[in-house]
This record gives sequence, structure tokens and C-alpha cells, in this order.
Amino acid sequence: MKNAAKPAVAAPRPEISSKFNAAPAPREPPTKPAAQKAPPTRPERERDRGGAPRNAPTEPASARSRPGVPTGPSDRRPTEPTRQPDAAPRTRKVKKIVKRLKEKPTLPPDLAASKSVFFRKPGNESVVGSGTYGKVFKGLNVYTKKLVALKKIRMEGERDGFPVTAVREIKLLRSLSHKNIVQLQEVMVEANDCFMVFEYLSHDLTGLLNHPTYTLEAGHKKHMAKQLFEGLDYLHTRGVLHRDIKAANILVSNEGILKLADFGLARFYAKHHQLDYTNRVITIWYRSPELLLGETQYGPAVDIWSAACVLVEIFTKRAIFPGDGSEINQLEKIHAVLGTPNRTDWPNLVEMPWFALLRPNYRKPNVFEEKYKDQVTPAAFDLLASMFRYDPDKRPTAAEVLNHPYFTTEEPAPRQAIELKDIGGDWHELESKALRREKEKKEKERARAAQQSGSKEESHESGGATRDRERKRPNEGGDAQREAKRPHI
Ligand SMILES: Nc1ncnc2c1ncn2[C@@H]1O[C@H](COP(=O)(O)OP(=O)(O)O)[C@@H](O)[C@H]1O
Ligand SMILES: [Mg+2]
Repeated sequence: MKNAAKPAVAAPRPEISSKFNAAPAPREPPTKPAAQKAPPTRPERERDRGGAPRNAPTEPASARSRPGVPTGPSDRRPTEPTRQPDAAPRTRKVKKIVKRLKEKPTLPPDLAASKSVFFRKPGNESVVGSGTYGKVFKGLNVYTKKLVALKKIRMEGERDGFPVTAVREIKLLRSLSHKNIVQLQEVMVEANDCFMVFEYLSHDLTGLLNHPTYTLEAGHKKHMAKQLFEGLDYLHTRGVLHRDIKAANILVSNEGILKLADFGLARFYAKHHQLDYTNRVITIWYRSPELLLGETQYGPAVDIWSAACVLVEIFTKRAIFPGDGSEINQLEKIHAVLGTPNRTDWPNLVEMPWFALLRPNYRKPNVFEEKYKDQVTPAAFDLLASMFRYDPDKRPTAAEVLNHPYFTTEEPAPRQAIELKDIGGDWHELESKALRREKEKKEKERARAAQQSGSKEESHESGGATRDRERKRPNEGGDAQREAKRPHI
């Protein structure tokens, strides 16, 4: 209530209009502070009336002070220089703010002609991926000039309207926000087509690892691996299984930032109790032994197995278990490297639904060390060996992987691959497939030429060997994969 006492010492309030028009306060400080200026004497006031009736107000009601009510901020500043209520009115200068209109942006003709906000190059030129469910296009927001990836949701053959898998993917993606998870910006309907709009990343790991000249350095590889497991750790702690970890679903920006993509098979899982899920998930080369043996009660360890397969690819540029697409052959590929599993390694082995059905009639030794010890650093080898455990319960969690000496102590330290800015072009699985086709074509031509020149046998041998090495992956648009993606719907 400090202010309540103040109006008594306040200077007489000027009329509102004179407040605006008042001359600027004198430069020299007034000789007497406002509060001390004596109020005009009664006869003086009466003189000011200029013949008006006695009761006529001489100032607006708002300007009169009421006892007990603070009259305004000036009350709190008794030392403010006195404003002259009778100073000559001054015309108010209105500062004119002239808004200079921005120059109208003119779009280049191709962008201006774009029917969509997201400009796409005509034909197949803008296609960066063609997966199981439809094409992925590279688009340019004509206004912001930001790049996007447009994943078309395939509606053909959907009897029940919007595909439930797309609903699941969208719902899941909307609940995720992490630097190592691709960001879904919006869902767009355009001319009868529906698209998921993502931030655009210049490469995926398949494209990058198959780049004709660029190779990641050891520190870069470690940084990629670290980001992969950070993304996985985020998913698993939020109760999400990705269920399709593979190099083509791992995007890399032109600054070396890695992001997990393709949540078409992902789902929330029950952390504290076991539920049944379909085992027909994950592209077969990256599928863990328990899934191959029919397990339906699985958890995040299936993603750890797939991530370990990707890690081998990051280190060696080659898939570790390149099977022919069948479950039995895939298991054989695994046995050939890790040996046949036994009950000491994996006590639950015999409980697997298809254990009896797929029981191998051979015994194979574990040659993992022999094959990989010299290809990777000691800590990296130890980490890989811990993830390639037959028993899913013995595999480390993503958080444990991140605490492994490979990441924490072994040199070199992880280093972001900022050099990717200079590699030129975008490198996705699609480009590497095209490159491979090109290579195959050239080799065929060479073989034909060699045949014609008489050295038939020799050329056949070398061509065959390369063809085997460059063999088409079973997941590339094959029915097996499409099947694998379908059943969980
Ligand atoms: N945000 C993106 N930026 C750049 N390329 C992408 C993006 N999302 C997907 N792609 C490319 O498209 C391919 C297919 O996309 P993906 O989401 O994996 O669909 P699908 O379920 O059909 O496999 C990927 O392998 C990748 O090369
Ligand atoms: Mg994919």
C-alpha cells in the first residue's frame, strides 16, 4: 500500500492530449522537482476557468486524482521533471513506417510448373528407392528449397482402404524423435496418391559401402556403428522392435549422420511379459537363428543380431551370411561360420518350434575367429563375437554394446564422416544395384567377346565366379521378401 499515500504529493496531472503534445522536457534539470512545486492558489484556478460555470470540470475525470488510488507511474517518480500543462501544443509527429515490399521471388520455370509443393524430376529420375511397398522419390520443396523423401503408400490391391501396415508405420514414426531415427515430417495426399514425407538423406549404407571409390576410415566406421546402436538403444528403451535392420534401411546424411529408417515392420513389444509375434520378419540374411527356428516369443536381441551383421558389412563391405533365400540355407550359412549350436551354447535350442524339422545332420566347428580376427581390431572382434551368440539371452543390449571398449577405449575414437560432403552424388541401394547391373552387363559382353575369340572355357570360369560374388540378394524385390513382409499384417 505504499503507493496509496503517494497521490498526495503527485504533480497536477496534465490533460491526456497535452501529455502527447507536450514539449520535450527541458534539457537542464528543473530547479524544483515536480513534487515540490506549489499547487496553484485558489484564485489562480478560478481565473483559468475563463467564465465557465462554477461546477464545470476543468480537466478530464481520469486526470483527477482520487484519494487512495495511485494515479499512474509518474506517482512513483516524484523527481520527474515537471511537465508544463499549459505548454504550447505541438503537432504530433507520426513516424511513417514504410514497409518496403520484398521482391517477389521468382521460381525457376521447372519449379513454377510443378503441380506439387514437392517438385520431382520427371519419370524415374527422382526415384531413390523402390522397396516392397512402393517407390521412394526425392523431392524439393519449391518454397523452402529443402529436400524431402516421398515414400508412396501403395494402395493397389488394398481391399480395406488405407493399408494397416502404413498406419502402423506412421503411428510409430510419429511417436519417435531422435537424432538417429529418420524424421517423418508429414503425410500428404496428392492426386489420389498418399505419401509419407521424410527428411531427405543423401545415402544409405548399402549405397555407401558399394561406392566405387569412397571408403570409410576406421574412425568413421566406429562413428557409424555408434550411431546405429544409439538409434537402437533409443528404440529398445521405448519398447520398439525395428525388425528390419539391414544396410539398405540405414540412411546416412552427407555430413555423416546415420538414421534408422523403414519402420514398415516395426512394432511395440511387451517389455515385461512375453507375447507371440510373427517370426517371418527381417530380411533373411539378417535374420537371427531363433527366428529362423520358428521362435515367436522374441525380443530386442533379434535387432542386435541384424545390427551385428550390418557391423560386419561396415568393416568388410561384405555380407556375413549371404544365403539363397530359404530358411534352411540361411541356417547352413550361419553354421558354416559359427559352427552348429549345442545345448551348452543355447539351453533353449531344443525348445525352438522348428528345431526337429531343421536339425542339421552335420557338425560344424566355429571358424568365426579364423575368418574375422585379422579383418577387424581386437575390441571390434570381441564385440562382434558377443553379439553373434546363438542364445538370444546372452547377446548384449544396445546400451551394453555402447559401453564396450570398442567404443569407449580402443583407438581410434569415433569420427564423423564429414568428408561425405565431397563424394558427389547420392548413393542408395538403388544406385549400387544399377552399378552392379552395369558391371554385369560389361562382364557378359567381355565373356561373349572372349567366347568369340576362342577362349571359351577360361572366360566362362571367371565370369561365373564374379556372378557368384555379385549374386543378386534374395531381398531385392524377390517374392520371398515380399512374403516375409506380408504375414504379420
Ligand atoms: N528419407 C530418405 N532419404 C533418402 N532416401 C530414402 C529415405 N527413405 C528411404 N530412402 C531410400 O528408399 C529405399 C526404400 O525405402 P524404405 O523406407 O526402406 O522402404 P521399403 O519399405 O519399401 O523398403 C531405402 O533403402 C533408401 O535407399
Ligand atoms: Mg527398406
